[in-house]
Order: sequence, then C-alpha cells, then structure tokens
Amino acid sequence: MCGIVGYIGRRPALPVIIDGLKRLEYRGYDSAGVAVTGNGRAGVTKTEGRIDALIAKLARAGAPQSTVGIGHTRWATHGRPSDANAHPHTDCSGQLAVVHNGVIENYLILRQGLEARGHKFRSETDTEVIAHLIEEHYNGDLVEAVRKVTPLLAGYYAFVVLRTDEPDRLVAVRRENPLIVGLGDDENFLASDIPAILRYTRRVVVLEDGDFVVVERSRVTVTDFAGNPVERRAMDIEWDAEAAEKGGFPHFMLKEIFEQPGCLKQTLAGRLVNGGPKGPSETGIIFDKGILDTEEVAALDRVFVTACGTAFHAGLVGKHLMEKLARLPVEADIASEFRYRDLLLSRGDLLVVVSQSGETLDTLAAQREAVRRGGRVVAITNVVGSSVAREADEVIYTRAGPEIAVCSTKAYTAQLLAFVLLATHMGVARGTYPADRAAEILHECRRLPELTERVLGGAPAMEELGERLAAWEDVFYIGRGLDYAVAMEGQLKLKEISYIHAEALAAGELKHGTLALIDKGVPVIALVTQPDLREKTISNVQVVKARGGHVIAVAVEGDDEIAGHADEVIYLPKTHPYLEPVLAAIPLQLIAYYAAVKRGCDVDKPRNLAKSVTVE
Ligand code: AGP
Repeated sequence: MCGIVGYIGRRPALPVIIDGLKRLEYRGYDSAGVAVTGNGRAGVTKTEGRIDALIAKLARAGAPQSTVGIGHTRWATHGRPSDANAHPHTDCSGQLAVVHNGVIENYLILRQGLEARGHKFRSETDTEVIAHLIEEHYNGDLVEAVRKVTPLLAGYYAFVVLRTDEPDRLVAVRRENPLIVGLGDDENFLASDIPAILRYTRRVVVLEDGDFVVVERSRVTVTDFAGNPVERRAMDIEWDAEAAEKGGFPHFMLKEIFEQPGCLKQTLAGRLVNGGPKGPSETGIIFDKGILDTEEVAALDRVFVTACGTAFHAGLVGKHLMEKLARLPVEADIASEFRYRDLLLSRGDLLVVVSQSGETLDTLAAQREAVRRGGRVVAITNVVGSSVAREADEVIYTRAGPEIAVCSTKAYTAQLLAFVLLATHMGVARGTYPADRAAEILHECRRLPELTERVLGGAPAMEELGERLAAWEDVFYIGRGLDYAVAMEGQLKLKEISYIHAEALAAGELKHGTLALIDKGVPVIALVTQPDLREKTISNVQVVKARGGHVIAVAVEGDDEIAGHADEVIYLPKTHPYLEPVLAAIPLQLIAYYAAVKRGCDVDKPRNLAKSVTVE
C-alpha cells in the first residue's frame, strides 16, 4: 500500500521522482524517501512525514544530482513510521538501495540468518532483508543477484532496486503488488500507479504477476522470474493529466463527488442499445462477449458477490438487484471472510468481484479462491489492466477515472450503475424480467447523469447539515432493502473522514438493541426511497421519534407525507427505484465531506487509511 517511482534517463532524476511521489501520496504517506546513483554510494534521503517533509530535508541537505533514482511513499506495515523505517533501504555497503510495496512474510527468518552471517540492519522493516539478500548474492551483476533472491522471498511484493556502480539500469520485480513501466524517449519510468508518470509519458506497460523487468534508458526487458522472455504490450493511457489534479476544488473528494454525472455517462457509454431490449436474445445492454452471453446467464444456478469496504456496499445493492431481476440466489460476503470460508461454490457458479483499484489483496485472494473451486468471475473495476481485471473472465470497467481521495465516491456510484446494467441484462437474458420493464430501467439510466446534477445542486443545504452533524459523536443510519445497503455506505463515509462514530442498521433491527442509544436529539438518517418498504421504514422512524431522536429522512420527491414523520427531509428526484441508491449516495457523501471539513480533518487522506489496501 505504498507508492513507488523510479526514473532512468537524461534529466535530473529527483524532480521527476518527487513529482511522481506527490501524485502517489494517496497510497501511503507516513514517510518518504529517495535514492539516486553516484559518488560510490546510493545517495539516500528519507524522512518520517509527508513528501513536503522530504522536499525540505533535500533542500537542507543539498539534493544529490543524478539521472537515475528511485523513490517511495510509505504506509507502514512492518515497523512504525520513522526516518529509519522509511524507504529506500540499503545493504551494508550502502551501494544498493531498494523500495518495496507489499509484505515479505518470511522476513524474520531471513533476517535472523542474515544477522547471523554478519549483516547489520538499520530498520524494523521486512523490506531491508531484500537489500541484504541481494548484497549476499551479488557477484558483479545486479540482475543475476535479484534473480537469485526473488525465489527466497515469500509473500507479495513489488520492488525496485538500484546499485550505484551499475548506474545504467534499474531492476524491478512484481509479485501480486502493482507495478508499471512508463516508456519515454531515451528515458523510462517505473511506478506503482499510472498517475505518477502521466506528466511525462502516456505509453505504459502494465507488468503482470511474476514479471521481472530490467529498465535502461533506451530499453525495457521483461522476463519471468527465471529469465525467460515474456511479451508485454504497451498501451496508451487516455486520461487527461488534468483529471488527476484537483481542478479548483479544495479537496479531491469534493472534486470527485462533483464528477459523478460525467462518470455515470462514461459508465453507460456504448453499453446501451438504442431502442432497449427486444427480448432475451437482445437484452439492450452490451457486454464483451464471454460468460455474460445469454445462454451462459440462463444456465446459472447461483451468484456470489465479494468485495471490501465501499465496493462491498455496492455489492450489497448488486445482490438485491440480481435477486429481484434475475431471480437467482445471490450471496454477498466481505472478501476477507469469503476467502477463508469453506466455500460451497462449485463449478459453473458465478462470482462478481467489485474493486475500484482492482488491487485489493483480500478481494484478489477471494477471486483466486473462487477460481480454484471452478467458479467463473465477472469483475467490476475502475482500473484497466488491474490484477482483478486481468484474472477475471469478464470485466465491466466502471470508467470513473482515477479516484485520488482515499474515500471512494465516484467509483461507488459507477459500481452501482454497473450492477443495474448487469442485473437488468441477467433478468432479460433469463426471461425473469420482462423486456418492456427493463426498457424503463434503461431509459432512467440515460437520465441518471442529469438527475445527479440536480442532486448536486443541493450541496449548500448538505453543507449546512454536515456542519451541524459535526458537533455529534454518534450518528445512526437506517433503511430497509436497497436503502439499508445505501445506509451502510453512508455511515462508512461519515466515519472514515470525519471520525464521528456512525452505525448503519437495518431499520427493523433497531428495536433489538441499538434503540437503547437513541436519546434526545441523536441524529438518525433514515433512507426511505423504496416504495415497497416505505411504510415499514416509516414505522421504525416513528419509534426513533418517540425516543427523541432527530430524524433526517432521505426520500423521493412527491412523498410529502414523510415530512410529517421526520424532522427534516432531503428530497431526491424521482427515478426508477433501482436507481435511487445512486442518487441517495450523493447527499450522504456531501454530508460526510462537510462534517469532516468542519471538524478540520484531512479529508483526502484520513488517518490510518490508504487508498489501495494491498495487505491482508
Ligand atoms: C472507501 O471509501 C474506502 N476507501 C474503502 O472501503 C475501499 O472501498 C476498500 O478498501 C476497497 O477498495 P477497492 O474498491 O479498491 O477494492
């Protein structure tokens, strides 16, 4: 869950590396460092704190000049954040430096052996063993030494190594954790994520699990760990460099919330057939050919959904929709649980994996477990070429653009829309949902970007509400069915960025314990957007009111009656009930955002969290 940048070329390496690290700060930001070749030792500068602290340290120390270097921004796994534990880590000679993302699971035993053989360790990290092991196997050829060391490392990792007396190459390895190569003109780049290098090149090779790469100024050689050549095709990245900047908003999160209408358009682009479904053979929705073909979908018996965090909450909405439309048993489970269950998933079952980054380790492991048992996988992800995407049988890219804020917003609503498309497609393909009713859903899908704009128009009112909620230490969210799934996402938004304790409950469950916490004025956000469950939720709202709770209802325009039950109402435009979750998510995102700003929290980089969770 750290950010890596490497550069080899003709220009000074440090500015390129620092710029890349700044763009990756969302991956981890408790310490940072750089190493460059030259003067007989790897010139390492590193510090606890953010990239700005590193820049200040470089300015004080006098930045070393070189055209080759590596850098790292860290999210601690082994060893607390400190100068010593910051990457890069060096060997005893100080000639070799390494930056690493991931976990070396057998580092303790390796370290004990290395110490017994005289190696001196300076940090508490697992990473440092890599540097010393390479030193031990070095016999004048860095590539050979790294090749010998890689099989000794258990766990998952991406790392980049430089040696100051071999200044014309960087050596890097990918095992599960992401790593890409940016191709330039007489210069090349390495990075854990594409935004790090977009300013310099749009031509990118996404390395795969098990790739070993030697990067020189004018050549990139990819092999497997054993040295057998492998072919990796370069792709052109079309993201606008601007899209990775804040674009005038005070935070990436707010910018990304406001990008949602455009993102939803992108999610839909090219996927809807004009005129809508004509019947099972033409469901009105276009996916790539594969396991979502009509006959395949019709033959399904069961579906599983797995993901983490926000993506899991999208999966809960997906579960409801697939059950309602495709009339299939659908089981949703958190990936970190799913991967260790004695799964009753059998050959032919379908697993839908949801992951914004496509690199979340638990999600990827759950996916691999399902595949091992014969399941087939549809991935809903935002990142082209991510691990989850590459290992799936079918991918529905959400196309929300790079999401920088740790707190997921636009990726979530795009995931919801992807599920609406998937469930509608399955329902028509299976003949369980009539084509004319599916056409109504798809018609509303087309209106969704415009409706989302309208909801965003209510931001000032959400600002006022968010600022009021900032004074509370507990906020509750209730709902039933799809509304419950959205309530879960609402509470996660609030707690992860404002640090207010928030809890979501199935509205009917409140009376079984949590009601004891409802007292005078306690804020309860009640989602009441689903017509079939509206009456039931209203009776739960009344129970809260009777205990003095302050009810903020999220309801659909035209529901005037709800105003008589709640203290205040956030009205959403009317659309198909299956699309209301997309609209309902937006005020909840805004409330969380403004509460966090009011409390002075670091909105884009909440404490203890990181954007891409590539550890277990
Ligand atoms: C959401 O705001 C969180 N940052 C987190 O729950 C996130 O959704 C989760 O870690 C899953 O990430 P993924 O979608 O990249 O797999």
